[in-house]
Amino acid sequence: MGFAYTGVKITLLVLLSIFFAPGLPPHYEFVNFSLEPPLDLTGPLAPNSILDNAKAIPLDSPIAGPESVAIRGDEVFTGLLDGSLVKINNGKVTKITTLGKECDEEAVVPCGRIAGVRFDPKGKLIVADAVNGIYRIDVDTGKVEKLVGMDAPIEGVLPRFPDDIDIDQNGNIYFSDASTIAGVDQLVLEAFAGPTGRLVKYNTKTKESTVLLSKLHFPNGVQLSHDQQSVLVTETMRARVMRYYIQGKNQGQADIFVDNLPGLPDNIRPNGRGGYFIVLASPRLPSEFSALDLAGNWPLTRRFIVRLHHFLVKTLEEVEKLLPNIVFKEWIAWIKGFGILGDLEKTPFKTIIVETDKDGKIIGSLQNEKGPITRLSEISVGKEWTYFGSPTLKQLYRIKTSDITKK
Ligand SMILES: *[C@@H]1O[C@H](CO)[C@@H](O)[C@H](O)[C@H]1NC(C)=O
Repeated sequence: MGFAYTGVKITLLVLLSIFFAPGLPPHYEFVNFSLEPPLDLTGPLAPNSILDNAKAIPLDSPIAGPESVAIRGDEVFTGLLDGSLVKINNGKVTKITTLGKECDEEAVVPCGRIAGVRFDPKGKLIVADAVNGIYRIDVDTGKVEKLVGMDAPIEGVLPRFPDDIDIDQNGNIYFSDASTIAGVDQLVLEAFAGPTGRLVKYNTKTKESTVLLSKLHFPNGVQLSHDQQSVLVTETMRARVMRYYIQGKNQGQADIFVDNLPGLPDNIRPNGRGGYFIVLASPRLPSEFSALDLAGNWPLTRRFIVRLHHFLVKTLEEVEKLLPNIVFKEWIAWIKGFGILGDLEKTPFKTIIVETDKDGKIIGSLQNEKGPITRLSEISVGKEWTYFGSPTLKQLYRIKTSDITKK
């Protein structure tokens, strides 16, 4: 009885000090932010079931997690969860390369995660690998050049999470660095302790990177505007898309392109007729509870959770050093990723892709009702076929482009 009582007292004391004590690690800025309610699912956002018509391509070998898709004629190129880049043509899957180091059997954190792929004006594939950096790849010869590594600071701060890219007509690369405190295995940390993300320009001639925008809350998809005057960047944890002007009278300034999205935006791509498709990776619906909306206004609670989490992870890591074993390692990796909160497979099923015109006005949407595709990260519109990217799908899905452009 006495012991139990002392135990409770000590636990309470530790928890209270973790909550209130100033100056405890980890040292992040916990900002108070509010999201406006999401847009209603009416008008151009009225529910539909267009995405239910997508079909998986029969493949000669299994694939998992094709997050981003680049199309070249009949061929498509995508990165998979094992860090490999593959070509898919007529159902045949051919591996082109694996960036970074090969995954060994015991890997508990990803060795590579290709989150964005696009062709540059010269036909080379530019790749954003969230674990390893930005690459230029000749998909015909397999030649790989690393352009931006994870060990070279950009304006004094190391990149942690290259997420998506786009390339202008001169070959300069714009990319998102989704977080400077969290890698791909710790998305939730950026959600709680951000904003620390950046929009970066890599000058292909000088090979220098400059930060265009910082303090973005999980910048994710990147898309040059059709007139090449601005770069659009989705800001996942603020349910919006920002626009940064790279030319013209507003050069160097930023504004909001679309706000109050009914979900958390991932990649943004041209819709094939002068506007854009914004894929919402996880819904945030008007009638439903959103943990993110709530968390914004509770910075001290977020600080408490992050401190407690930090304390727990550090302690477990010390124990693992004394008793090394793989099960324990996997367990720590799971806790490090905030357990179920960081599990993309557990996010809601509802999928919405918002379509805007060139100025950010919402003109339509593609939605699912039952399946098969959900938890999407990208839509890549080709002439005849449109492909869907997702970190959780185990196949490559597509739909006839004419089925999503007829209205
Ligand atoms: C956060 O901001 C909201 C208003 O936007 C305010 O009501 C709330 O008290 C603030 N919370 C803290 C902890 O500062």
